[in-house]
Amino acid sequence: MSDNELNSEINRRRTFAIISHPDAGKTTLTEKLLLYGGAIHLAGSVKSRKAQRHAVSDWMEIEKQRGISVTSSVMQFDYDGYRINILDTPGHQDFSEDTYRTLMAVDSAVMIIDVAKGVETQTQKLFKVCKQRGIPIFTFVNKLDRFGKNPFELMEELEKVLEIRAYPMNWPIGVDGAYQGVYNRQLAQIELFDGAGSQGQKVLPSVVGSVGDPVFSEMLGSGVHQALCDDIELLDMAGDSFDLEKVRQGELTPMFFGSAMTNFGVRNFLEQFLRLAPAPAPRLSSAGLVQPADSKFSAFVFKIQANMNPAHRDRLAFIRICSGKFTRGMAVLHNQSGKLLKLAQPQQFLAQERTIIDEAYPGDIVGLFDPGVFGIGDTLHEQGQAFTFADFPVFPPEKFARVQAKDTMKRKQFVKGITQLTQEGAVQLFRQADAGMESYIVGTVGSLQFDVLEYRLKNEYGVDILMNHLPYELARWLVGAEVKPKSLRGADRGMFVYDVKERPVLLVSNEWALRWVADNNPAVEFFPTPAVR
Ligand code: G4P
Repeated sequence: MSDNELNSEINRRRTFAIISHPDAGKTTLTEKLLLYGGAIHLAGSVKSRKAQRHAVSDWMEIEKQRGISVTSSVMQFDYDGYRINILDTPGHQDFSEDTYRTLMAVDSAVMIIDVAKGVETQTQKLFKVCKQRGIPIFTFVNKLDRFGKNPFELMEELEKVLEIRAYPMNWPIGVDGAYQGVYNRQLAQIELFDGAGSQGQKVLPSVVGSVGDPVFSEMLGSGVHQALCDDIELLDMAGDSFDLEKVRQGELTPMFFGSAMTNFGVRNFLEQFLRLAPAPAPRLSSAGLVQPADSKFSAFVFKIQANMNPAHRDRLAFIRICSGKFTRGMAVLHNQSGKLLKLAQPQQFLAQERTIIDEAYPGDIVGLFDPGVFGIGDTLHEQGQAFTFADFPVFPPEKFARVQAKDTMKRKQFVKGITQLTQEGAVQLFRQADAGMESYIVGTVGSLQFDVLEYRLKNEYGVDILMNHLPYELARWLVGAEVKPKSLRGADRGMFVYDVKERPVLLVSNEWALRWVADNNPAVEFFPTPAVR
């Protein structure tokens, strides 16, 4: 393959995740995007997957549905010459470290905000991870067909809560809660909800190329038109100017107003997004930046899904391709084990279907059968190279439990299982200082991870466990000369533990307790993750 062909494959790829708080409209928007790409024929197929997930009451059910949720966790489709990969970031009870890790594999993110609710907690958490990576974030303010907050108020909220400035690409017309449509700032045109109140829009371009055009006044009535002119003038004068470089650095978010359900503004959003979002970017490795157009293939593992078919105990490793061309059957080196692996049955995902693929390019996600060698963050590359991609961050756990084997005779299997599942990234493991080795402390970001742990220890290692949830919500890695449980004042206000690398960590129940311990131990530093140093 020529360099040109590789380059054009790379340049047409857009790999992104949609981040939002549950119910903001992620499923609805995803479905509309897939429909534009012709990737799903039936409206509602993404929805039915969601409905099934909602009905989940225990892990057995989750397991049954895994085939569905896995195939849908990456969706690939084409639109207007672009090849689009959407990576799912599960919400609700599915929230786990996988959700965060998925954000390591994308080049940009779309943040959905409910116009009535503004920035909500889960959006905030996911946004933070995107911000740390410095990837571009595009904002879609959804449900414009309903009552909503004032758009200036929403911009202010983004700035205050998320510390990002916004550039509105379009602007709601009408008083808060009774919007008639939007004004498109690029094209100087008004786009109104159509008379039927659903599906699509009525477009009226300006003849003179500005918001002050008298044709708008006729259409909207002079009061509404004047208010719109005032808003746009304020944005032009006092707002940020559009700066693609700032967008690419994640410092400015293009903000779109629309309604996924009524399909208002979705196509315009998709087209602008594809134009402004970046193609796959270079990735940092131990040997410097790896360019997507390097002729040699490389990739990293960002997610492992085990036991998709309990009868076969198979594991699937999801890789994100970073450079070169991937072809079925190619032999690649797994850097961490030094093993040469033949990638015989690579899988790719098209909406609801899994298919075997023959080739893939940077930005694409491929599922590989894992012979049990892969770990999260591992590097794969063609022979003749030697590097690893930069370490994955550790995400601060927020939920903790003490676990032990119900039957002490099963301790060996218990330790083996919990160690392997930790390596796989299913949970984070700690041991309590000065306690015996019968039990471990497990940390997670979402409660689903506890269910997964319990289920997999039983089904894959034959161990029933006892689990006691602990009242802690914060973990802090402690740095200072000789931090010991006895020398740390107030250690008994939380729990002193060690992580798998024997680094001291304090678990506490809230910020208040943390502040007390920090104030009383001025020589100790407290970090939310082991990596931040
Ligand atoms: P999620 O994946 O982010 O959790 O949200 P989802 O798309 O499922 O949307 C949550 C609810 O919001 C759904 O209603 C959906 O129909 C509605 N919704 C999504 N986009 C819009 C919009 O642009 N305008 C309005 N008014 N509603 C929107 P539901 O009652 O939970 O489900 P359903 O009965 O509509 O299927």
